[in-house]
Amino acid sequence: MRIAIIGGTGSFGRVLAERIQALGEEVVIGSRDSSRAKEIAAVVGVEGAANYQAVEGADLVVLAVRSNAALETARALAPVLGTTPLLCVASDLTFTDNGVVPGRQTYSLAEHIDRIVEGPVAAGLQSLAAAHLAQTEPTEEDVLVCGDDPRAKEPSLELAGRLVRGRAIDAGPLANARALEGMTAVILNVNRRYKAQAGIHLVGLP
Ligand SMILES: NC(=O)c1ccc[n+]([C@@H]2O[C@H](COP(=O)([O-])OP(=O)(O)OC[C@H]3O[C@@H](n4cnc5c(N)ncnc54)[C@H](OP(=O)(O)O)[C@@H]3O)[C@@H](O)[C@H]2O)c1
Repeated sequence: MRIAIIGGTGSFGRVLAERIQALGEEVVIGSRDSSRAKEIAAVVGVEGAANYQAVEGADLVVLAVRSNAALETARALAPVLGTTPLLCVASDLTFTDNGVVPGRQTYSLAEHIDRIVEGPVAAGLQSLAAAHLAQTEPTEEDVLVCGDDPRAKEPSLELAGRLVRGRAIDAGPLANARALEGMTAVILNVNRRYKAQAGIHLVGLP
């Protein structure tokens, strides 16, 4: 599988690239700046290219830009993305004096992106901390993925399940990205309160 990571120069995208590369998959890191992409890709040992070039020939595109740039990046890349499946890992958050809260009252970022791009969209990995991905051994946690279209959800679940020691769990339709994105706010508050780096583990599954 060839996986393009848009914003793969960032904290999350970079360790995701390292981990996927270690799984033996083909990875290309994308950036707005092709030289930055190439520089970081050379360190990681993968390909690097400008975002619009990185998506060419990809089987799955992971949109890993800063969340407040996710919509504009999806709009800019929509023509070159065509029908390529997309995995959105973004969470829209608002930072208040009382803590972190979900940024959106209605649709999730992933649902907005689904309306922008032509191809199928899944959402997931929001609860998987970059710091956990960076550990030498996969962490004992589950990851949640949702989506309406199996062309995006199935490869996303397959990939997600190889990133953790727990399971990749199908969390239903794309509208549930509202809950997955909101869960990031919950986790960030938990992290702050308990000085921790929390992940998710669901119990009661067969
Ligand atoms: N960090 C985590 O632990 C974690 C965990 C799960 C999910 N996520 C999600 O992963 C995504 C990336 O998080 P991050 O912590 O890696 O973010 P980040 O390091 O702040 O940014 C990631 C990349 O976004 C690109 N970017 C920044 N501003 C942009 C703009 N205006 N337009 C287009 N691209 C822009 C940059 O790439 P270039 O400048 O090279 O283009 C940057 O390297 C977020 O949606 C986040 O919610 C993060």
